[in-house]
Amino acid sequence: MNYRHRFHAGNFADAMKHALLIGLVRAMQAKEKGVFLLDTHAGRGGYDLAGAATGDSLARQPEWPDGIGRLWTEPEPALPPTVAELLTLARAYDAQAGNTTPAPRHYPGSPLILRALLRPVDRLAACELQPDECLALRAELRGPERVAVHEMDGYTALRALLPPPERRALVLIDPPFEAQDEFARIAAGLREALRRFSAGVYAVWYPLTARARLDDFFDAIRALNPPPTLACELGIAGMDSALKLQGCGLLVINPPWRFEAEAQAVLAFLAEALAREPGGGARVEWIVPER
Ligand SMILES: C[S@@+](CC[C@H](N)C(=O)[O-])C[C@H]1O[C@@H](n2cnc3c(N)ncnc32)[C@H](O)[C@@H]1O
Repeated sequence: MNYRHRFHAGNFADAMKHALLIGLVRAMQAKEKGVFLLDTHAGRGGYDLAGAATGDSLARQPEWPDGIGRLWTEPEPALPPTVAELLTLARAYDAQAGNTTPAPRHYPGSPLILRALLRPVDRLAACELQPDECLALRAELRGPERVAVHEMDGYTALRALLPPPERRALVLIDPPFEAQDEFARIAAGLREALRRFSAGVYAVWYPLTARARLDDFFDAIRALNPPPTLACELGIAGMDSALKLQGCGLLVINPPWRFEAEAQAVLAFLAEALAREPGGGARVEWIVPER
């Protein structure tokens, strides 16, 4: 496992994933009852965008300038509400980490964003398999009792931690896609998770690279006979572009009421703000329709 999220932190994919994640949490929190938030592939939590904290010189081009960097100085009224909330959280994290410059230096990953959104009735479990990343995550998340960090395989967590006693849960599945069979592992994990807990809301991040592989993935998901499932996609370039990643998606099983319209607005905004080349755009589509 070579993947380290710090090379990608704050890129366009993080901006998209984190804004939609906030939308999902806020929609679930419209009800008073507590929600269990499970982050199966959590990463280290906090990222130094210059790589200084880890001693790296980040020999490669940083990705955040074309992601969160393009949104950083936008005034909040110009942004869709969940993008505005992401920026408020990210700027607060950056300031707390000591940045006094106008450009971002630190960026919070999904477990820190989820922790910031917790109400007293909610709970968070964050899983990370890499021991060094997990150690850093523990340091970032130390404190509240209702936050747990597990050095654990995220797919095992779907079996070990579901169904939750709350009977309401949002599960983020955000693997590194290093393994050739990652899509198959996700489908197998979801099969087990849905068998245990079909009422859960599951959000799966995926790269937009080869369309054919995605069609196979969607077929595998449909074969699970899941609840309604929405594919939310952001393209920053056409699929024939030479960019390594032309876009990304978030597959949401059981999306909360009104999430579709919110995703449309967020993705349309980000498609314009984060475009790199012509041919990208936003797409929100039911791959398993509402019944
Ligand atoms: C894309 S990153 C996560 C980013 C994070 N969710 C965020 O949005 O800030 C994927 C993470 O999964 C970890 N990982 C890889 N395989 C895993 C597995 N089987 N179970 C749990 N974590 C895993 C990697 O070490 C990496 O930190």
